[in-house]
Amino acid sequence: MGKYYFPQNFWWGSAASGPQTEGRVSKDGKGESIWDHWYSQEPEKFFNQIGPEKTSEVYTKYLEDIQLMKETGHNTFRTSIQWSRLIPNGIGEINQQAVTFYNHYFDELIRNGIEPFVNLYHFDMPMILQINGGWLNRETVDAYVNYTKVCFELFGDRVKKWFTHNEPIVPVEGGYLYQFHYPNEVNLKHAVQVAFHEMLSSAKAIEAYHEMNLDGEIGIILNLTPSYPRDEKNAADVKAASIADAFFNRSFLDPSVKGCYPKDLIEIIQDLKLIPEMSEDDLSTIKNNTVDILGINYYQPRRIKAKEIPVDHEKSPMPDDFFDNYQMPGRKMNPYRGWEIYEKGIYDILTNLRQNYNNVRCYISENGMGVENEERFINEDGMIEDDYRIEFVKDHLRFVHQAIQEGSNVQGYHMWTCMDNWSWLNAYKNRYGFIAVDLKKDAKRTIKKSGHWFKEMTTNNGFAD
Ligand code: BG6
Repeated sequence: MGKYYFPQNFWWGSAASGPQTEGRVSKDGKGESIWDHWYSQEPEKFFNQIGPEKTSEVYTKYLEDIQLMKETGHNTFRTSIQWSRLIPNGIGEINQQAVTFYNHYFDELIRNGIEPFVNLYHFDMPMILQINGGWLNRETVDAYVNYTKVCFELFGDRVKKWFTHNEPIVPVEGGYLYQFHYPNEVNLKHAVQVAFHEMLSSAKAIEAYHEMNLDGEIGIILNLTPSYPRDEKNAADVKAASIADAFFNRSFLDPSVKGCYPKDLIEIIQDLKLIPEMSEDDLSTIKNNTVDILGINYYQPRRIKAKEIPVDHEKSPMPDDFFDNYQMPGRKMNPYRGWEIYEKGIYDILTNLRQNYNNVRCYISENGMGVENEERFINEDGMIEDDYRIEFVKDHLRFVHQAIQEGSNVQGYHMWTCMDNWSWLNAYKNRYGFIAVDLKKDAKRTIKKSGHWFKEMTTNNGFAD
């Protein structure tokens, strides 16, 4: 029998984001984000043509939702402020209705013993800034830093955990390489510039926060996808996996934690003649403003083999020119999302951080399993029996526990997500929550079996089996 109990004051909870949960009501003063705009232009791209205007209606239902968080055993919860809600034009006037909403939301969480963790950017560029290039445009960095200062001034007396970005590599991949975010381009030069500006904006926001002496912590949330070579004894596979790791993990991990970019990545970008434009002191800003804390989102590993058919980088270079993805025989899959489930990956990430990143203070900021058509599992009491989700969490927590025994500095575990929410182009296809949201019944909430289990597990601060 195994016992998996966690350190005192471990953070148990879940994560969500403003654009995926809040929804819009008429005259709420919110400006358009790229998602509102994209949906208005091409609704057919979104699963069942469900757009971001309704989502799970947290804007009006947050009081009820916070009670449900209590019932599902949360002591912490992450969401994000929507830049386009707070400052509808990206710069300039502040929307006072947004200030009232976020004040009430955060205060109510605190009153109920749930510490709010607040992220400042979750894929949701204000459209008006995107028209001028979004993260491609250096001015966006200044606009973002100004926005973050407004947030620190308004809410920093109560919010003590801040995050500059959620998964900054995803807007790079989705918007500029693989076409699942607006502006839907394929352009590595732009991708590199966007990534650099996001990273710079993170360092500058950290600098601004520390200058304000607000007695809290600030960090970044990264989706770390460990890159495993097909064959560890095959040097070409190992090299290919290391390049994929440089592009998709170390591109943000190294500057965020160590303050500098990895040498191998710089060499590749230099060879491709794609070094981004920057000002003289940008690199020292990045060097001097590393994170206090790191959030780790973990869903799936990346399996890599050496490139089988060499490509000519001159034409239209892509990261994938340097490696091929590899489907490991016998892998365990989540068929709905199409992602491999590899629980040990979470341990490998934590071990890597302990050994190579000075054991940075961290927490698991997202882990989860999106499943389609969960109504199949509704029992006679109207509850979804999602035993697979309970198994998924336990299987990952065993490895988190092992990492802690070996000295890892991991402080908590957040599930994606609290209640079913809107997943970008996938809209409501795959459901991730501890709490079901019935879109046909005015977004009615019902706790799933996993939510009840989470309450029991977090009350005991772990589990035995
Ligand atoms: C993370 C994001 O990548 O994974 C979330 O931070 C996202 O915004 C979640 O919703 C699940 O992924 P998806 O693509 O199924 O929504």
